[in-house]
Amino acid sequence: MNQTPHVAVVGATGAVGLEMIRTLEKRHFPVGKLTLLASGRSAGKTLKFKGQDVRVTELTKDSFAGVDIALFSAGGDISREYAPLAVKAGCVVVDNSSAFRQDEKVPLVVPEINASDVKSHQGIIANPNCTTAITLMALFPLHHAFTVKRIFASSYQAVSGTGARAIEELKRQVEEVVQDRPVTKDVYPHQIAFNVLPQVDSFLPTGYTKEEMKMENEGRKIMHHPAFRASVTCVRVPVYRSHSVAVSAEFEKPITVAAARAVLKKAPGLDVVDEPENKKYPMPLFTSGKDNCEVGRLRMDCALDNGLCFWVSGDQLLKGAALNAVQIAEELLK
Ligand code: A2P
Repeated sequence: MNQTPHVAVVGATGAVGLEMIRTLEKRHFPVGKLTLLASGRSAGKTLKFKGQDVRVTELTKDSFAGVDIALFSAGGDISREYAPLAVKAGCVVVDNSSAFRQDEKVPLVVPEINASDVKSHQGIIANPNCTTAITLMALFPLHHAFTVKRIFASSYQAVSGTGARAIEELKRQVEEVVQDRPVTKDVYPHQIAFNVLPQVDSFLPTGYTKEEMKMENEGRKIMHHPAFRASVTCVRVPVYRSHSVAVSAEFEKPITVAAARAVLKKAPGLDVVDEPENKKYPMPLFTSGKDNCEVGRLRMDCALDNGLCFWVSGDQLLKGAALNAVQIAEELLK
């Protein structure tokens, strides 16, 4: 791999794409050249990278000539259509969509957990689901020490996970409610302002949503733990940024809060914020814009054997998307 690669960001104008550009800059990724791609609607716009204006161009099948690494975040349909073309053009794709995550030939990577899987790529590397990645940042170190059997979890997911239009929808609806005007809906099926929606993604015949099943399916692949089970309820909350997850986890080996805390304190990319007596615990307001995820509310689960409850919060645009993608790109340069 070229050590000063030509990098393309596909979906550069989106909520995740903009964070990818910022993350490349913040982490001093050795970008040789930067190509910003979006739909025809954005062609000609400029975005800042290292103080310079970079012009956005329209994504076409010829966009990848000379590109070494392409970070995709423009949705599954765009990934399915264009990622194979990028690979054919000699590019390595880091894909933030769910399009290739369960493909056996495609590694699914959280660098703190399974960085070495990157080596087996055949052109595409998948970035995991945001809620799964944030949960695993706390769960995997515990699994490593105590061997997780199963989890029960509920997520509290921010609107920015749906994209830039959803952030605008929450803002607009808050104003409409406060000003006593009729509430207009565009992105979500119900009002999200001053409400919570027990639906993230579409429903499967089982009654679970696709998002809820990602925790088990992607968790198994990332942790190399095919017996892992996860029963999850995903909920959209009127928060701009950062997902939080309440987890009850059951382990094979005996666990204590002190032993869990010692393990979590050493975990990379994770901060333990757990002083309930001082009202200190992870909150999306404070994990927004922060690279590390936070874990707290550690306590023994009173309904499971060898069970631990915890609360984890992380910026889903960063660890759940852009940061993880750039970390994967960094692995490619090693
Ligand atoms: P655009 O801004 O030109 O529509 P988000 O997830 O925040 O909604 O962002 C989605 C990203 O995917 C945006 O950058 C958007 O570009 C891009 N995108 C959407 N449709 C296409 C398309 N047909 N071709 C290329 N990029 C697209």
